[in-house]
Amino acid sequence: MNRRTFIKGAIALTAAAYISPSFGNKIVFGAENFKWWQKKPVYQIYPKSFLDTTGKGTGDLRGITQKLDYIKSLGVSAIWLTPIYVSPMVDNGYDIADYTAIDPRFGTMEDFDELIAEAKARDIKIVMDLVFNHTSDKHSWFLESKSSRNNPKADWYIWRDEKTNWRGIFGGSAWQWCEERQQYYMHTFATQQPDLNWENPDVRRALYAAANFWLDKGVGGFRIDAIVYIKKPKTFVDGTPDAPDGTCAVHNMIANTDGILDFLHELKREVFDGHDIFTVGEANSVKPKELKYWVGKDGVFNMLFEFSHVNVMFNNGDEVWHRSKPIKLSELKKALSNSQAATKDSWYPIYFENHDKPRSVNNFFPHGSDKILAAKALAIILFTLRGTPFIYQGEELGFTNTQFDSIDDYDDISSHGAYDLARSDGLSDKEAMRFVQKFSRDNARTPMQWNSSANAGFTTGKAWLPVHKDFVTWNVEVEERDANSVLNFYHKLSALRNSSDVLIGGDYAELYPKNEELYIFTRNLGDKKFMTVVNFTTHKVNLPDKIFDGAKKVLGNYADEKNYLRATEAAIYEF
Ligand code: NOJ
Repeated sequence: MNRRTFIKGAIALTAAAYISPSFGNKIVFGAENFKWWQKKPVYQIYPKSFLDTTGKGTGDLRGITQKLDYIKSLGVSAIWLTPIYVSPMVDNGYDIADYTAIDPRFGTMEDFDELIAEAKARDIKIVMDLVFNHTSDKHSWFLESKSSRNNPKADWYIWRDEKTNWRGIFGGSAWQWCEERQQYYMHTFATQQPDLNWENPDVRRALYAAANFWLDKGVGGFRIDAIVYIKKPKTFVDGTPDAPDGTCAVHNMIANTDGILDFLHELKREVFDGHDIFTVGEANSVKPKELKYWVGKDGVFNMLFEFSHVNVMFNNGDEVWHRSKPIKLSELKKALSNSQAATKDSWYPIYFENHDKPRSVNNFFPHGSDKILAAKALAIILFTLRGTPFIYQGEELGFTNTQFDSIDDYDDISSHGAYDLARSDGLSDKEAMRFVQKFSRDNARTPMQWNSSANAGFTTGKAWLPVHKDFVTWNVEVEERDANSVLNFYHKLSALRNSSDVLIGGDYAELYPKNEELYIFTRNLGDKKFMTVVNFTTHKVNLPDKIFDGAKKVLGNYADEKNYLRATEAAIYEF
């Protein structure tokens, strides 16, 4: 074979390997063919609640730098930071007043540079949150835009003479009257978060410049916030009639509007292309069957946080907390399996928690489940589905929901909207509070619990949100010492997944999809196979078949083995 033919053949083989994990029976798709962000998990930090180094009661960048070794012990490739930019903090940073400056509450740009450098020394990248659907109403762009109808930025936001009756995602109208312009502006989220007008090329250019600023600083990628809302429907511009039932959320009217992908491809060209980064879009309402247009070879992002599994308790994208229904396991499994199938040629971000969702132990396991077993069971799924596991701070410790008695004690802006909506739908205070306690985003935002000292070692001052009452027994120091802790289970799982070709690249197949008690799936690569088995009930369940035949247990939340599954039992098997 001459050199040219050899090179051509090698290219063809590499291409075949990339497309198909197994090539006949011979495995040609080892973990080395994957990108850095596919091979290890990502750790999500909510900086306000991570570690306070100054005693002011809120976390900061130096606190994150101090804990990098802890984060590294989880075997992650990157840290996703929720917004740390200058912000009035109406929505805890998702209302940005300056895209290229650090909010002084979090520290300085020097602190940020130090974090990037120290993380890099540990082979960890920092991933930023891009909030490009809206700004803060205190952003200079908005202040100028609202000042008159003919200033240079007059068209940078969505202005209208008349409003529709659309309800915003945080409750209340999606429109706010502005005295100066004698017009309404649109806000998908809070009143203080006006939506940008993406139709204006100057707006898009300014946003791309902001993202490129962070790339020049060496960030490892972006999580792109609320991206499905950036394109507003044409009819909306022309004057869409009000939604017929008078309660329709803005989400149903604008999410994933035709033409959105043109904007996103431009964003990709102008910002993402040519960089060794990963991008993960937040996309409530993109259906698994549409995923191919969003991720992968012809898509825009490397991964997409779609919500089908975490919103399985809601009837539609509306996410009205007091209209939620109990989770049916077969529906949860179907959501996960559909997403796995839809991303089999691309990639999936596996997650059960983030800063917007209740703690997963409470969310997915029945009341009365042992929380250590449940946290480990979810971890087993998190690390054995196909995709990049996203661990949300505290999840690796088995954190559970907090509980405040009065709506006034909740900081989360969406909890107040949800409470008001429930009351206006006729629920009593007690009934409305039951849903707030169950779904409030504050459940995920209580401070990290580092040790058993005052405020769990999070702050020497007054914590901005009360520390969970269980902190004396549930914290990093205690769990690091306990060989059977949730934290040490995460260490084992991470090591297992990060070194397994099958768990990184193998195909996914679900068994017994209709079973309402067990979740069973396999990961297959060539003739190698792993099987995950999880009992979602609080009682003993017999296995539907002899599925353990020939299998060796690799790791489980019970040490020994039976030929049935005990309450909340979960295990990984190898064949
Ligand atoms: C999604 C973010 O995750 C959430 O925290 C925020 O409130 C909204 N987008 C608005 O930016």
